[in-house]
Amino acid sequence: MPTLFSWEFAADPYPAYAWLREHAPVHRTRLPSGVDAWLVTRYADARQALADQRLSKNPAHHDESAHAKGKTGIPGERKAELMTHLLNIDPPDHTRLRRLVSKAFTPRRVAEFAPRVQELTDRLIDGFAARGSADLIHEFAFPLPIYAICDLLGVPREDQDDFRDWAGMMIRHGGGPRGGVARSVKKMRTYLAELIHRKRDALGDDLISGLIRASDHGEHLTENEAAAMAFILLFAGFETTVNLIGNGVYALLRNPEQRERLQTSLAAGERGLLQTGVEELLRYDGPVELATWRFATEPLTIGGRRIAPGDPVLVVLAAADRDPERFAEPDTLDLSRGDNQHLGYGHGIHYCLGAPLARLEGQTALATLLTRLPDIRLAADPADLRWRGGLIMRGLRTLPVEFTAH
Ligand code: HEM
Repeated sequence: MPTLFSWEFAADPYPAYAWLREHAPVHRTRLPSGVDAWLVTRYADARQALADQRLSKNPAHHDESAHAKGKTGIPGERKAELMTHLLNIDPPDHTRLRRLVSKAFTPRRVAEFAPRVQELTDRLIDGFAARGSADLIHEFAFPLPIYAICDLLGVPREDQDDFRDWAGMMIRHGGGPRGGVARSVKKMRTYLAELIHRKRDALGDDLISGLIRASDHGEHLTENEAAAMAFILLFAGFETTVNLIGNGVYALLRNPEQRERLQTSLAAGERGLLQTGVEELLRYDGPVELATWRFATEPLTIGGRRIAPGDPVLVVLAAADRDPERFAEPDTLDLSRGDNQHLGYGHGIHYCLGAPLARLEGQTALATLLTRLPDIRLAADPADLRWRGGLIMRGLRTLPVEFTAH
């Protein structure tokens, strides 16, 4: 039985996941927080569990004693005003809120945002191109999504550096509702609530105005719901995208043949390999290692194991996406992989709402980096790189690179 949640595990959890998939595909374990939870590691079980409505997203279904101690580590889980966000609720509330937000956060809005993402990407690269070296996490992968989401939401430019600082605090110190992190979350929420209040009287064409305007059969989001929604868009869309860019660039730098193929195809003006490539990077080493918490509402069976009501169930997306029963040569990075129905964005009713934006940012970031810094290379021994701890996400703390300055 491999050791889970150690430093070695954080650096490369895939061998341990392979062991679990084979020997204990639905495995009850004690998490570092002290909570006992089921880990689901096979693709077929994972996909089924993600769509199983008997698994609730509402932490109130969790065993009351652990929940009362705040052990599940869900940021702000016990603050009532945060409870209305999409990842913490079930139908019919989820259906209503998701329908409303989908009216404002449309694929078209994201597509129209493409020139701005390109501009932001170029501006960030301008910041270090002449130096010949950079830490791609701090100087690139981290600021890009936070500025992008702020812009999309309609946070005025002069306030965006505050968000950068608050988000920096959250990413450095994990998602737990403690100390500086709790203060940053609070500042963000207060700011968003005030912004929504101000915008109500002067609607624009930004996403927050869209959230206020959205209606479905005469129903609107309340101000609180709109604030919770803006917050979850920021929260769900920030660290995930940092990790998509960070893990993605890292995987490319460690797989030179694949990276060269991509550079050749980009130089020829093609986009096909970039599109399948970003999906493959999500499968191969995606940002979300474990899907967010689910709790059994009734007795059920997953992969032959009996799950009791109240039991937490964690679907290990990173393990499912390397399942040899589903993917040929799962440990090989193949940017042109077809039939790549990975679970990196989840599955079922909670499927990632921000997937079009994540794809846009991921594709723009990778294509621009490889085109503008064609000889970019790792400036550290992979063994010295540190991965951020934390249960749900998988991402590097730093990614030092070198390239020819210009
Ligand atoms: C949900 C992954 C980027 C907003 C999810 C889920 C996953 C995921 C796995 C489902 C979690 C579960 O079922 O427990 C990712 C990845 C991203 C990314 C890998 C980047 C590469 C974004 C962005 C946004 C966003 C950019 C928005 C700006 C959301 C929201 C949900 C969600 C609102 C909740 C949807 C619901 O519960 O109905 N994401 N995400 N995500 N994501 Fe993303």
